[in-house]
Amino acid sequence: MVHIDKEKCIGCGLCAGDCLGKAISLESGKAEIIKGCFMCGHCVAICPSEAVSFVGENYDMADVEPVGKGFGIDADTMLHAIKTRRSIRHFKKQGVDKAELEKILEAGRFSPTASNAQNVRYIVFSEETEKLRELSMAELRSYEQDEESFRKVFPPPYSRDRMDFSDDNFLFKGAPVIILTVSPHTVNATIAAADMELQAVSQGLGMLYVGFFVRMAAISRNIREFLGLAEDDQVVNCLCFGWPDVKYQRTVPRKKLNAIWR
Ligand SMILES: Cc1cc2nc3c(=O)[nH]c(=O)nc-3n(C[C@H](O)[C@H](O)[C@H](O)COP(=O)(O)O)c2cc1C
Repeated sequence: MVHIDKEKCIGCGLCAGDCLGKAISLESGKAEIIKGCFMCGHCVAICPSEAVSFVGENYDMADVEPVGKGFGIDADTMLHAIKTRRSIRHFKKQGVDKAELEKILEAGRFSPTASNAQNVRYIVFSEETEKLRELSMAELRSYEQDEESFRKVFPPPYSRDRMDFSDDNFLFKGAPVIILTVSPHTVNATIAAADMELQAVSQGLGMLYVGFFVRMAAISRNIREFLGLAEDDQVVNCLCFGWPDVKYQRTVPRKKLNAIWR
């Protein structure tokens, strides 16, 4: 719940003006909550006198950081980072410390969600990665000679010819860490995943999206049971992380921009 400290409130009205749901009004020169809201936190972020806070067990005001120098990354550096990010398919055997993973998960947690639902959860494999790999490869291999099962999971244009069923690392490329995003909202989960990737790259780590696994996790009983998923849980992204064992010298060519300007 949003709390306004009347002692600290200077009545500037910035919180009321920025409140999407018009849940704050100025009453006798002080901000007042007049209805429920979706707790986007803009009122906390905009207040010049630190009068607004969230109270409740799900929130920790210690999370809130001063904006200070702003975004902190200049435009050219940002674009260069986006262009030089690569899908990594060669990882060192070395594991990834929990502190590194916590920073990556923090990037996901702070990503935007529609209606501020914050409805993305994460399953992190760092100790049981091998179990997940074995189970997933067994599942994939069970489709090798079974066109009907294969097609249920991988409709055209997927083709069995393009999958290497013999390679133990075909799916996860030997990555030491796999993080799954689980959410009813594919856009929310995917924005989180994209932010997590950029965060990982900034830490020197590499990431790979594994769409093949996401398809299997939608259908395979064995995988869903292993993950402890409820009937309507949806694995939206499968993200492999690790220290890259490959170095790219330049960016890749891309198709020309497809945009109309009006
Ligand atoms: C949603 C999604 C699913 C993907 N699934 C796989 C996958 O299962 N296996 C794989 O090797 N690469 C996968 N990729 C990586 C793409 O092949 C890669 O992003 C693309 O070739 C462009 O290369 P780049 O990421 O280095 O720019 C996936 C990428 C996305 C965005």
